[in-house]
Amino acid sequence: MEKIRLNSMEKLTGLSKFKTAVFISGTGSNFKNLIKFSKIKKSPISINLVISNTHSAKGLIYADQYKIKKKIFNFKNFKETEKDILTLLKKEKISFICLAGFMKILSKNFIKKFNGKIINIHPSLLPRYKGLNTHQKAITNKDDFSGCTVHYVTEKIDTGKIIMKKRVKLTAKDTPVSLAKKILKQEHKLYPAAIMKIFN
Ligand code: GRF
Repeated sequence: MEKIRLNSMEKLTGLSKFKTAVFISGTGSNFKNLIKFSKIKKSPISINLVISNTHSAKGLIYADQYKIKKKIFNFKNFKETEKDILTLLKKEKISFICLAGFMKILSKNFIKKFNGKIINIHPSLLPRYKGLNTHQKAITNKDDFSGCTVHYVTEKIDTGKIIMKKRVKLTAKDTPVSLAKKILKQEHKLYPAAIMKIFN
């Protein structure tokens, strides 16, 4: 996997940040959190673009709020859409991608073009509970802990190399909603921490 590094000059001046696109489909709380993180001086990334597969993604509101370029692709023709996205990413000089609640599965070809430069946040302690309904699964199995994981994206869903994880304690009272809330709070700490880890 290619290492992502700022050169020494960039580090010295602190001027350069890696231009990053966030891909979302829903609420976008991680998107908002990453925008805030990107604005602090030590952040190695700037958020320059948000891509959504749906107009109804609530998180798109943060693009307007923070004046970030947004683009919606409906993915009707998957291959063509990915081609269009790649063209856009090139045009915007994007070098890093953060998936944050993005509900489409990117193709092998797309991932290859950004090899080692796409990361995702997942609401479970991977490799446990890949895919959907992770909170319900943790509750059904009476797990003591669940949590969240930031990992590199590969063609196989939720299987890429793990960058960082954070555990969250389950209680007998937890419902999928309460657990999601607790975990989301940790996600907002974990995603920036994982990005710092990658670039330092
Ligand atoms: C998060 O729980 C994330 O781990 C998962 O989808 C959810 C997105 O939440 N992949 P938000 O849209 O960032 O609020």
